Amino acid sequence: QTIHLADYRPYPFRLDEVDLTFRLAPGATRVLSRIRFVPLEAGADLWLDGEGLRLISARIDGTALAISPDSTGLRIPATALPSGPFLWEAEVEIAPQANTALEGLYMSGGMYCTQCEAEGFRKITFYPDRPDVMAPFRVRVEGDMPVLLSNGNLLAEGPGWADWFDPWPKPAYLFALVAGDLRAHSGRFTTRSGRDVALNIWVRPGDEGRCDWALQSLIRSMEWDEQVYGREYDLDIFNIVAVDDFNMGAMENKGLNIFNSKLVLASPETATDTDYERIEAVIAHEYFHNWTGNRITCRDWFQLCLKEGLTVYRDQQFTGDMRSHAVKRIEDVLVLRARQFREDAGPLAHPVRPESFVEINNFYTATVYEKGAELIGMLRRLVGNEGYARALDLYFSRHDGQACTIEDWLKVFEDATGRDLTQFKRWYEQAGTPRVSVREDWRDGRFTLTLSQHLPATPGQPEKRPLHIPVAVGLLGPNGDEVVPTTILELTEVEQQFVFDGLAARPIPSILRDFSAPVILDHPQDDAARAFVLAHDTDPFTRWEAGRALSKQVLARMITEGTSPAADWLDGMARVLRDDTLDPAFRALALRLPGEDDMAQTLHDAGLVPDPDRIHRARTRMAETLARHLSADLPSLWASLRQSGPFSPTAEAAGARALRNTVLALLNRIDDGRHAAAAWAEASTMTDRIAALGCLIESGRGTAELAEFASQWAHDRLVMDKWFAVQISHAKPDLAVETTARLASRPDFDWKNPNRFRAVIGALAANHAGFHQGDGSGYRLVADWLIRLDPVNPQTAARMSTAFETLARYDADRQDLIREELARLQVTPGLSRDLSEMTARMLG
Ligand code: ARG
Ligand code: ZN
Repeated sequence: QTIHLADYRPYPFRLDEVDLTFRLAPGATRVLSRIRFVPLEAGADLWLDGEGLRLISARIDGTALAISPDSTGLRIPATALPSGPFLWEAEVEIAPQANTALEGLYMSGGMYCTQCEAEGFRKITFYPDRPDVMAPFRVRVEGDMPVLLSNGNLLAEGPGWADWFDPWPKPAYLFALVAGDLRAHSGRFTTRSGRDVALNIWVRPGDEGRCDWALQSLIRSMEWDEQVYGREYDLDIFNIVAVDDFNMGAMENKGLNIFNSKLVLASPETATDTDYERIEAVIAHEYFHNWTGNRITCRDWFQLCLKEGLTVYRDQQFTGDMRSHAVKRIEDVLVLRARQFREDAGPLAHPVRPESFVEINNFYTATVYEKGAELIGMLRRLVGNEGYARALDLYFSRHDGQACTIEDWLKVFEDATGRDLTQFKRWYEQAGTPRVSVREDWRDGRFTLTLSQHLPATPGQPEKRPLHIPVAVGLLGPNGDEVVPTTILELTEVEQQFVFDGLAARPIPSILRDFSAPVILDHPQDDAARAFVLAHDTDPFTRWEAGRALSKQVLARMITEGTSPAADWLDGMARVLRDDTLDPAFRALALRLPGEDDMAQTLHDAGLVPDPDRIHRARTRMAETLARHLSADLPSLWASLRQSGPFSPTAEAAGARALRNTVLALLNRIDDGRHAAAAWAEASTMTDRIAALGCLIESGRGTAELAEFASQWAHDRLVMDKWFAVQISHAKPDLAVETTARLASRPDFDWKNPNRFRAVIGALAANHAGFHQGDGSGYRLVADWLIRLDPVNPQTAARMSTAFETLARYDADRQDLIREELARLQVTPGLSRDLSEMTARMLG
């Protein structure tokens, strides 16, 4: 049963207050609800969502009802309702211990916790489980656990009970409850207007020492949102709880964020620099949701990008401010291309605001999140920084306390800036990645750029209309000086010309600065022009991008023609490596070779059929050639980047480690694991240990080190996830499947834990040449595990099934093998709605 945006109808009742009591017990928790309903429309039936609930009793205004819900909820006909406001009371029983889907109320590591977004509250009690129904919640938690938490402020507590009240009206998806034997790492924050807020990071006993990075990240987020967006926190307490079993990253429940423990716990010995950066970003993301998501929420789930795109954009700005804007932008573009462009190019392509869905959990995608954030960035470029600030102020003042739509969002930009965004809105409605082609013309001192756009057809959208695309351009003179600074060209037609007069010589254009729009740029430039931009551009993104485009051009020729890497490229890379005026983190990114999955898509886009083994071999050869070319520099650079003194998690220290480990990976191509062995021996951080371990595995070593690592960390789930994943990601293509199968047969492959499942099965899906082995063994192993996981945890199974979304790129044999696995999934008896929607879409 497909749900359509066009079918939206307001809920015909208002809820004045929601009063819940939880009597916790693992096998039989009782949930009592008392809700005052006020009818808004005469003659409307009362519909309450409810799934998997055992109804004990229900009353309206004290009179018991004899009703039996169906599998999705219950309906009370208007004729059986009082004509005015009434009190609904119900008692239901649920079994958190049996809840392996990790949606609703469930147990993880002995504690109770909840995940209600998007539609999990209906697994807790009967309720209008939709985001446009908002109410204050009063919650009593009863259970024999030392810590009992819910949303809002703590009213009172005693042994075995606690009363919470959240005065801010909220939709049910923001409800949360936690109960367990937990310890807090605590701090305080005073808001700009003087509210004193208690901050707590709640973890299992023993983990208290790994919470300070999360707490400091929270404090920085609270400060930043006040300074940059003028947003203050609005309760007396802010709780964050870390849980081991969690389907996604984290959840912004009002005043009680619940996190996957991998995004909270950090210490130098257990977390990598990437973990530190992600923890900081996700803590910020969930905190920022308090305004963009909670105070202003979504009218319906089609509007998901309203809160997610904006909140991702805000967390990206925050990380840029905390670290480096240039490095953050490059990292974000890498992720966008790897995940969102990939999604847009295949059968799962959908608009940033979808028009229909079967299971909303399948739409927490890179398109909604990451492309959604790009749309905010484009709006900002189009209206300027001040226009953006005015629009956001208007958004917060006009819509506080409301459940909104993309139309509301665009209207504040129109009202605040006077711009017409009718055409821009198509970005929300049309799926697919636009291709923008550039032609240059130089005649009589006049430089003309001809830009044209093409948006390919996507499932259900055969025809597309032109988009409003901001293309940031700068022009460089022949000496490398900037003759025209960054200018935003607004491409609104299918083809348009932009003229630059008064130039002394033909310039070299730098196009799509700061990646001003999420498009594929088709700008024919020779190796020399790209090397010139790499050497001289003032914009760090296009500078990096020129090197990247050059690398891809070179690698594509190596794959298709078997050539050797071009000299221009080797020299360009050498210049980056030696240039110590550049930020080490930037150098590490610039030295990173294009990924194999990215190359497969690039070749497919060029009308070729990618061969995963060939791509892998060519990329290996490319890295070896580069390493040999740089061999005189690498050992001394590696030695000079060694850090002494206590660990520091700052961007600078992490950048130096990133460059050092990039150098190590290059050395590892030519030194038979010698430097990797030394790196392992001296490593004092998880960043360095895992980097050394990956290198050792790649050079056919590492057995003893893996054993040492496992015996040191056997007790630590998060660290062991890394141990599992590193063996699969660094396995040679022909060994990846058997390595995965071997690891998956270990007793500590706790596949019901989503992190562990992703560390093993996800790592295989991400090992491009390993997963796409021509005999189909990779496909089979992943499908086998999806069939096993689906009845236990459909959400995580459905998400992992996107491993197959790229099927159309490959040769007919591989396509047949993938289709066979998808077909096998599809006919599995009792397949979840989640996974069956995914297989149906992928099979087309
Ligand atoms: N709103 C959360 C976040 O982005 C994501 C939770 C989604 N969970 C889910 N099961 N669909 O911060
Ligand atoms: Zn979010």
